Amino acid sequence: MLRLCTLVYLYAVCVSDGFPTGHLEGSVNDRPIIGMLTQEVVDDGMMRFGKTYIPASYVKYVESGGSRVMPIRLNQTLPEYEKIFKSINGMMFIGGAVDLETSDYARAAKAFYRLAVESNDAGDYFPLWGTCMGFQLLTVLVAGENLLSNTTAENVAFPLNLTVEATSSRMFESFPTDLMKALSQEDLTGNFHHYGVTEKTFRGNEKLQQFFSVLSTNIAENGVEFVSTIEGRKYPFYGVQWHPEVNRFQWDPDMQFPHSHNAVRVSSLLSEFFINEARKSLHHFDKPEEEEAALIYNYTPVYVGNFSGYEQCYFF
Ligand SMILES: *[C@@H]1O[C@H](CO)[C@@H](O)[C@H](O)[C@H]1NC(C)=O
Ligand SMILES: *[C@@H]1O[C@H](CO)[C@@H](O)[C@H](O)[C@H]1NC(C)=O
Ligand SMILES: *[C@@H]1O[C@H](CO)[C@@H](O)[C@H](O)[C@H]1NC(C)=O
Ligand SMILES: *[C@@H]1O[C@H](CO)[C@@H](O)[C@H](O)[C@H]1NC(C)=O
Repeated sequence: MLRLCTLVYLYAVCVSDGFPTGHLEGSVNDRPIIGMLTQEVVDDGMMRFGKTYIPASYVKYVESGGSRVMPIRLNQTLPEYEKIFKSINGMMFIGGAVDLETSDYARAAKAFYRLAVESNDAGDYFPLWGTCMGFQLLTVLVAGENLLSNTTAENVAFPLNLTVEATSSRMFESFPTDLMKALSQEDLTGNFHHYGVTEKTFRGNEKLQQFFSVLSTNIAENGVEFVSTIEGRKYPFYGVQWHPEVNRFQWDPDMQFPHSHNAVRVSSLLSEFFINEARKSLHHFDKPEEEEAALIYNYTPVYVGNFSGYEQCYFF
């Protein structure tokens, strides 16, 4: 079969017998787009701006790794989500406070999770990242049940208790030795959660255990050890119970946001790591106009720093 690659509309499209196939062994997509589901607004102060939102800190985090963001509305049909899935190169499940099984957010996330699993199974690389509630969501999706319990660590920064598996992980592969040491000794990871998966529950659940390597744990206020960083053994799915984006993009002085040089390095390297995973996906929009209309650049963030822990949020 004749295959040739042409540069169309500034992105590489692989053409096979005249039709774009979206897949070419070994090629790299240097214009990745990360999908981000909008979150249902639950904070009274935010209601007047819109029904759903995305904190700008997550957007900046993804952009800083060399990618663009597509906000994805909730309540769309499965065919609509399938079309979006074929257009984006990775997905980030962000933090928030909604029900992990029954919310509009959880339903949409489940659709994308299934698409991502099928796609990777078929050899079409597609990375997922979950932060905080997004981490919890990944455990619910993989386990098929909600295994969360009280692991309160609210507004506190910790070093990570790294496991042996962390040293041979993909996530921390690009971390220099001095930074790995700092990560295990300095308060570089901000925690803002009430629930999580305990180390005991995680290790005791066959599905979670088989699916993910545990890269770090931490101790909650009630003394319970919870899982704080995970990486898919087979799938390019990653989760952090902590918040790497706050290290560079949130500044509320009442919040324990780590801003040291090492904290910034951790945040930068993880962002770059995830976006590099997305470069392995050759999904793309059919037309440049569709791509332009889908990107977050069409929206303007609103200043919310005077009544929330975020500086800016996008509302939809
Ligand atoms: C999604 O649909 C449900 C049911 O129609 C509705 O109650 C909810 O407000 C919608 N959510 C969003 C974010 O539009
Ligand atoms: C790391 O684990 C040790 C031993 O279990 C514990 O004493 C310590 O508090 C943990 N550190 C953090 C930051 O959770
Ligand atoms: C979780 O445990 C902490 C510390 O023991 C306690 O203060 C808090 O009220 C508990 N939270 C929930 C939601 O049960
Ligand atoms: C926050 O600031 C914006 C504009 O800067 C203002 O419109 C809004 O009323 C303020 N909100 C509060 C709760 O102070």
